[in-house]
Amino acid sequence: MEQTPAPQLFKLTFDNIEIEVEPGTTILQAARRIGGEVVPPAMCFYTPLKGSGGKCRTCLVKVTQGSAKDPRPMPKLVPSCITTVQDGMVVQNTTSPEVLEAREGVVEFLLINHPLDCPICDQAGECHLQDLSYEHGKAATRYEEERRTYDMTDLGPYIKLHMNRCILCYRCVFTADQITNQRVHGVLNRGDAAEIGTYISKAIDNDFSGNMIDVCPVGALTDKTYRFKSRVWFSKPYDAHRNCDKCCGKVLLWYKGEDIIRVTARKDTYGEVEAFICNTCRFETKRTADWVIEGESKISRHSVIGQNKRRKTLLPAFPLKQAQEQYKQIDDVREPSKLNYEESRLKNDLTKSKFDK
Ligand code: SF4
Ligand code: FES
Repeated sequence: MEQTPAPQLFKLTFDNIEIEVEPGTTILQAARRIGGEVVPPAMCFYTPLKGSGGKCRTCLVKVTQGSAKDPRPMPKLVPSCITTVQDGMVVQNTTSPEVLEAREGVVEFLLINHPLDCPICDQAGECHLQDLSYEHGKAATRYEEERRTYDMTDLGPYIKLHMNRCILCYRCVFTADQITNQRVHGVLNRGDAAEIGTYISKAIDNDFSGNMIDVCPVGALTDKTYRFKSRVWFSKPYDAHRNCDKCCGKVLLWYKGEDIIRVTARKDTYGEVEAFICNTCRFETKRTADWVIEGESKISRHSVIGQNKRRKTLLPAFPLKQAQEQYKQIDDVREPSKLNYEESRLKNDLTKSKFDK
């Protein structure tokens, strides 16, 4: 039998790291395979949703070499979530001051109309915009004009829409389109007047509508059964499952004391759901007896949820990076291996002097 030849891989250099990926892979996907701090943030792209991406511009990167065949740089920064890798491409993200400055501008735009209501927002602590503004934003806003405001709306029995917080990423629209057969909401109007709305004031009511809450990167869509019950960092997530005839039944149970106060889908490192869950599991099954508990779940995002409770080994990246950079400025001539050596020697000396006393 004739064997199909293995697909030719494309070589990408991303922030000076080389990686080989299949043709058709986007720059963002390739960066995620490298992982860690070089991965660009993504506020609208969502792997499980076909067609998502290209809306928010947070994932912009600089292509300094288009390909091996045509090494010219791309004239403008490109959104990494919808730009595919070419063989021999060279891309900069964290190594490009231009990208970092552009990202700062994007964050400023995303925050123009966003209310500073994190202290009362249910999404606080697991909000991607909160993380993004801490990591890439500025401490103050230059915006002086009046902010665009909307009244809160009920989208069916389970979901509340705070349009003021929406960043128009379209994830909820794609979710309703792709996993339900009854999309009755979308983005209405255009430009500054664009808003999420239901056509002819219809309520959103289908078995999978709750997933729109999970995909929303901000607190624009909130779970009415959980609103104001607790700050997320006071609750503890557990992996659990049940036999469900509508979905996979694999969820996260959020406990406060003995009570399950919220049920969500399980998410990966990038905050994307592993599998969509149905409304019965999410909203109507909140007794421990209904579930098989698998154990404490790991919170891998650098969110406040993990602080003090779960990930004791997780150190905030920013102070470490800052310390590293400033230490380098003091003495830039030594090799990192020498620094490590001197650090351990210093520790040994300190321990020795403690016992010598
Ligand atoms: S409501 Fe949330 S998910 Fe929907 S477009 Fe706005 S920010 Fe995106
Ligand atoms: S994540 Fe790429 S444009 Fe939004």
